[in-house]
Amino acid sequence: MTPAERLIVALDVADLESTRRLVQRLAPTVTHFKIGSELFTACGPAAVELVQKAGAKVFLDLKFHDIPNTVARAARMATRLGVWMFNVHLQGGVAMCREAVAAAQEEAQKSRGSGHPRPLVLGVTLLTSMGEKDLVDLGIRKTVKDQVLYLTQVAQKAGLDGVVASAQETKVLRFAAGPTFVIVTPGIRPAGASLGDQVRVETPAVALKAGASYLVVGRPITEAADPVAAAQAILQEMAAASPQ
Ligand code: C5P
Repeated sequence: MTPAERLIVALDVADLESTRRLVQRLAPTVTHFKIGSELFTACGPAAVELVQKAGAKVFLDLKFHDIPNTVARAARMATRLGVWMFNVHLQGGVAMCREAVAAAQEEAQKSRGSGHPRPLVLGVTLLTSMGEKDLVDLGIRKTVKDQVLYLTQVAQKAGLDGVVASAQETKVLRFAAGPTFVIVTPGIRPAGASLGDQVRVETPAVALKAGASYLVVGRPITEAADPVAAAQAILQEMAAASPQ
């Protein structure tokens, strides 16, 4: 994969006009965009369509977490939208995750034609904004690393395509889960960038060297004075870290 195929820009904005402005500027330098709860709650499927019409792919980051039946229905709707990837919370359990994949598979064939690939289904391990103390506060008596590894086993057991995890756990996960497992890493900060609310962060080069499949970058690109230049700088760093 080229660096551009491995960069996902988080569209954490609240209206279609801001989305259009960012997508128009960033595409085709950026070919993958992430739509999360803020934008989807505000604008719904229209935001997905806007990105797709620009020729880019959508990672629908709604982190489904509910009873298996409800998550399966949501997975069908995400599949109908033609998204490239969506995710579920691994803490929802094996049955919930398994049903999400099965529903996506079935719906892809039903509504998009046989042979049409289903969206990739990823599991969220632990949010990158959470550190050791947050686990203690939740009554979880495990280190961040152990909890992430444990949840990754849940993902594998349920047949998910991969996980979302911090770059700091990526090396261990890549080793444990093998070369084809998808690892998406948010919490990416070029050297010297502001952390925002992220706790477990790494640079693009470190994340790729640790074995990340895709990098999610939000504010360092979307809030830059020149988002295209910021994206290009990150793509260059990615290219240097993983020569083709
Ligand atoms: O602006 P920033 O680069 O911190 O954005 C990271 C994006 O990745 C946000 O949209 C956030 O919701 C998302 N994310 C995350 N940690 C996860 C999963 C998703 O930061 N574990």
